[in-house]
Amino acid sequence: MTPVVAVDGPSGSGKGTVSRLLARRLGWHLLDSGALYRLVAVAASRGGVPGDEVAGHVRVAEQMQVRFEVAPDGGERILLGEVDVTADVRAEQTGQGASRVAAWPAVRDALMQRQRDFARDPGLIADGRDMGTVVFPDAPLKIFLTASADERARRRYNQLKDKGSAGSLAALSREIAERDLRDSTRSVAPLRPASDAFVVDSTGMPVEAVVERVIELGRARALWR
Ligand code: C5P
Repeated sequence: MTPVVAVDGPSGSGKGTVSRLLARRLGWHLLDSGALYRLVAVAASRGGVPGDEVAGHVRVAEQMQVRFEVAPDGGERILLGEVDVTADVRAEQTGQGASRVAAWPAVRDALMQRQRDFARDPGLIADGRDMGTVVFPDAPLKIFLTASADERARRRYNQLKDKGSAGSLAALSREIAERDLRDSTRSVAPLRPASDAFVVDSTGMPVEAVVERVIELGRARALWR
């Protein structure tokens, strides 16, 4: 069976960056499951969802044509059909929309198989909120990455600033706290560490040190040499 490393945690914990670096270093595939929830929100707002709101979003989740590519400058490019929606997908407002649609169980179900299909040899790094608890419960290595709320808000702020779209740090802190609360208290697949996950607190840790820690944990489990 294809080995999966589950990397879960709240927004701004650094799991996106850590997952990308791990996938690159190991030559494994990468699943950015948050991007799929974001894409549902983007596709629904672009195409509109006539009729029942939840059923409309489920249809979008089932039918959307998505491609993840590397842009000519080495960054990411996300295509919905033939349209480049990268900036829309990464906007903070889309994160809020994604967190709203992600609380609907039917939308989560609609994305389940799509996420599992990312598991292909030689292995998969799966980044999200419920990778270790729901989508890949048998993953041989599960990481739950956290950091203090202040540090997470600051990291997110810097990320958005690099893309030229940060608002105020205080507003972002509030939005992140709201999103984390919704993600942790929803009835399906709430954000929480799997019982067999390693909790890594990355507050004050450089990203390379977090990657090293995961590499050590995988080595100890004979996932790689
Ligand atoms: O990680 P990212 O910020 O892109 O995720 C956006 C939102 O998608 C999260 O706030 C969460 O509500 C939802 N999500 C989820 N389960 C996942 C990944 C993301 O519910 N596995």
